[in-house]
Amino acid sequence: MQNQISHHTNHTLAAGTRKVWLLLIAILPAFFSGCGKTTRTPETSQLGYTSDKAMVVSAHPDATRIGLEVLRKGGNAFDAAIATQLALAVAFPAAGNLGGGGFLVYRSADGSIGSLDYREMAPAAATEKMYQDAQGEVIEDLSLSGHLASGVPGSVAGMYETHQKFGKLSWSELVQPAIDLARSGVVLTQKEAAGLNNNRSRFIEYNKHRPYLAATTIWSAGDTLKHPDLARTLERIRDKGRDGFYKGETADLIVKEMQRGNGIITHQDLENYTSEWRQPVVGKYKNYKIISMGPPSSGGVALLQLLTMVEPYNLSKYGWQSSEAIQLMVEAERRAYADRAAYLGDPDFVKVPVTQLLDPEYLKDRMKSVDLARATTSVEIKEGALPVYESEQTTHLSIVDAAGNAVSVTTTLNGSYGSKVVVEGAGFLLNNEMDDFSVKPGSPNMYGLVGGKANAIAPGKRMLSSMTPTILEKDGKLFMVVGTPGGSTIITSVYQAILNVTEHNMTMQQAVAAPRFHHQWLPDEIQHEPKAISPEVRAVLQSRGYKLQERGTYGRIDAILILPNGKLEGGADPRGDDSAMGY
Ligand code: GLY
Repeated sequence: MQNQISHHTNHTLAAGTRKVWLLLIAILPAFFSGCGKTTRTPETSQLGYTSDKAMVVSAHPDATRIGLEVLRKGGNAFDAAIATQLALAVAFPAAGNLGGGGFLVYRSADGSIGSLDYREMAPAAATEKMYQDAQGEVIEDLSLSGHLASGVPGSVAGMYETHQKFGKLSWSELVQPAIDLARSGVVLTQKEAAGLNNNRSRFIEYNKHRPYLAATTIWSAGDTLKHPDLARTLERIRDKGRDGFYKGETADLIVKEMQRGNGIITHQDLENYTSEWRQPVVGKYKNYKIISMGPPSSGGVALLQLLTMVEPYNLSKYGWQSSEAIQLMVEAERRAYADRAAYLGDPDFVKVPVTQLLDPEYLKDRMKSVDLARATTSVEIKEGALPVYESEQTTHLSIVDAAGNAVSVTTTLNGSYGSKVVVEGAGFLLNNEMDDFSVKPGSPNMYGLVGGKANAIAPGKRMLSSMTPTILEKDGKLFMVVGTPGGSTIITSVYQAILNVTEHNMTMQQAVAAPRFHHQWLPDEIQHEPKAISPEVRAVLQSRGYKLQERGTYGRIDAILILPNGKLEGGADPRGDDSAMGY
């Protein structure tokens, strides 16, 4: 089924989005000049979009608008999260999805917390060495593109389970807006048009049919992309709930697609898929309580390790992006990512020593070897010996409703447009999440992350993630909802956004927009966005033995901060088409 294309020149952004862009134009130069030893003060701070009691922040204005409409209709934050995710599957095909998976962290208005794991699972026919050749070498691209790269999708199961437990509006009311959007079409932004154009040859290479995303030679900003097959899939999901995806026509289409491309996902795999409610990981940073996603994500554990490791130091006094603050944060990152590689995996398959990894004494000990006069090298750092007392594509949305319920959701296809395989007749992309497993011990994945036995492939196992949907309380009250895409950089981006607000007095919008840096143990380098580190600080870091590597921008943090007067401030990342809207 082909899409229909029409041209619009008049792409109007919602008021909230326009306001955010104007604001960013105003504040970004402040960051890009003299990013030396600067601490943001409330006097110089500029707020992002604010609202009185409810807010949605997501990667696409149509999805944000749909989430907000659900809130206005009386839906709660969970309802809005479901409708926003479904709308992202239509409006933002690079990452929004039906064919991927995700994590949801919540804090209800009464203070109760929880998390839902709807990460993809390895199919039953998956094997530990399925991406290696007879000589044990990794077969290039096999875990990244094409039919064999996909884990069994979890998104629809996750959204349906969320609704079963917390939904206020009817399921069909939450699915219908995405169906309407798929039929009427989405006006492409410049970034989306470029994304589709850049991937055109891969869409053609990895599909036996000509997928509708590659229907035209060149997409332009202002084109309307319609999704008629996806609309029909969504109608089946509206009418049959999770069975509309994991059984019947949609399942048949997925399995047929697998057979066309030597994929291994079967009807049985789809029927057996389950999402799981899990305890979030919870920790403390000063007077903030951090609630984040536990394994099979590494995000929450690593974030808590990072914050605990830097807590004893006066980052605020050193100043934002000062050499000392960067060094301390990087040395903590080096150590946390070394632990990640050795210890983190699916808790249903391996024992993940969460308590030991978060032990304050253990983390204090990890930082003992830090010397501000010189860089530690990653060859000196291995995972820590634990105490023995106890046996680039993803998308994030943050929502607070008028009652005070908060939901933080990160969901993913893994790479941009996932495996590039569009299920023929069903209109959605499949993930390439199998690459998040350690396909061979010590061999880096698409994010350069290495892993070992804990994250080896096994049938029914969930691949380790870095997604870090997070909620903060301050003095017992809701304080921040935050998360981002960005593969391995997710954890360090969330870490910086939190510290930008808590240590450097930035507003939420400034904290999200501020240029970032990242270290992940291996490769042993500080990767950073353009202008994230001033020339003077670069020189100091280099003289102390750090290797710096500039890269393009990364991550699209979407966050909400509760202001002292009780209003909400949105942080919508200017790196994407992200928007904040509320009332
Ligand atoms: N696929 C990126 C992640 O889950 O970390």
